[in-house]
Amino acid sequence: MNAFKPGLEGVVAFETEIAEPDREGGALRYRGVDIEELVGRFHYEHVWGLLVDESFEPGLPGPEPYEPRNLSGNAPSDLQAETAHLSGVWGLRKLVDIDDGQARDDLARLSAEMMAIVARSARVADGHSEPVPEEVVGQGETAAEKFLLRWRGQADPRHVQAVDTYWICTAEHGLNASTFTARIVASTGADCGAAMSAAVGALSGPLHGGAPARVLPMLDEVAKRGDPEGYVSELLARHERIMGFGHRVYRAEDPRARLLRATAKELGAARFEVAEELERVALAALKEYKPDRPLETNVEFWSAVVLDVAGIPHELTPAMFACARVAGWSAHILEEKRTGRLIRPSARYVGPGGRPAAAVGGELVPS
Ligand code: COA
Repeated sequence: MNAFKPGLEGVVAFETEIAEPDREGGALRYRGVDIEELVGRFHYEHVWGLLVDESFEPGLPGPEPYEPRNLSGNAPSDLQAETAHLSGVWGLRKLVDIDDGQARDDLARLSAEMMAIVARSARVADGHSEPVPEEVVGQGETAAEKFLLRWRGQADPRHVQAVDTYWICTAEHGLNASTFTARIVASTGADCGAAMSAAVGALSGPLHGGAPARVLPMLDEVAKRGDPEGYVSELLARHERIMGFGHRVYRAEDPRARLLRATAKELGAARFEVAEELERVALAALKEYKPDRPLETNVEFWSAVVLDVAGIPHELTPAMFACARVAGWSAHILEEKRTGRLIRPSARYVGPGGRPAAAVGGELVPS
């Protein structure tokens, strides 16, 4: 048996044709196309097409009319629950029982609806139970514009650009925790709604998709104190992590961080200066703190600043990430379906040896 690797670091679990970040961090390519070439030239819905269909056209369709049930305004939990619920409402069939074309169409329907659910949940969080009329949403030209219209009833072009760029940069990133989850569920032959909703759960944790939510409060604290060096050294002295730095794969700057930093600057992000200053100080401190492990800026640091341009509240950032990642998840679910192989790894048992039940704690008397 192969050696155990905690966190499966460096373990190759699949072969993929979709994307895989190169460790040295030079570039991120979706189906061979550098994301630098995509930002500013294509919209997110076309990038969804590139990832899922290997074609920019027809891309991601608009969502079907659908009224989500009891939205709480907590977007990740609304999204996870509603996505699972859609399998039943739409009668989605199991992946083992449908062909690739049907699976692709199920994923397109789900992707579009998931983005609409997040917009509706964000609207509830803002205190509006009534949806924005479809005629208003329909005036939007792109997925990002429609998303903002569905949420707020209006869409400032700067906000649209911020969201579109963020979604393009985070649409896919190889085998991270949520994508792995989606593939595991797909490998059991479950339906697409089950695979997508499971992925949302995996993405909601701060070590994967929730980091931007923690970056803005950090920037605010630094701005308030006016002492980034002191702030960073106190965090590290407590052995806490600086959110937005470090990556399981990259050992150099995350190319998405580079693109999003440029977008934050171009859009005149309010927190650009404080973010740049904190980045400079944090990188220097991390170099000293872990001289043997390169800890560079990751996508989530500059994502937080770009999403802030669009006034995205930090609690909503994991769900915004999920909106982007529906493309990558869909592509991986399809790829997994084509392999047709159940994912079932092994664990090395290190628990107690054989022993009588009486040796286990508790007062229960066996019947
Ligand atoms: N701040 C401070 N220390 C960090 C750090 C950070 N952002 N990221 C990693 N480290 C330290 C760890 O504490 C660990 O130190 P130790 O060996 O003394 O325990 C060491 O570097 C290696 O970290 P490890 O957790 O093994 O690396 P990983 O590959 O599992 O971590 C992340 C990847 C992303 C989970 C990690 O870098 C992190 O938690 N970053 C902050 C959260 C974040 O930005 N997430 C978004 C990812 S896109």
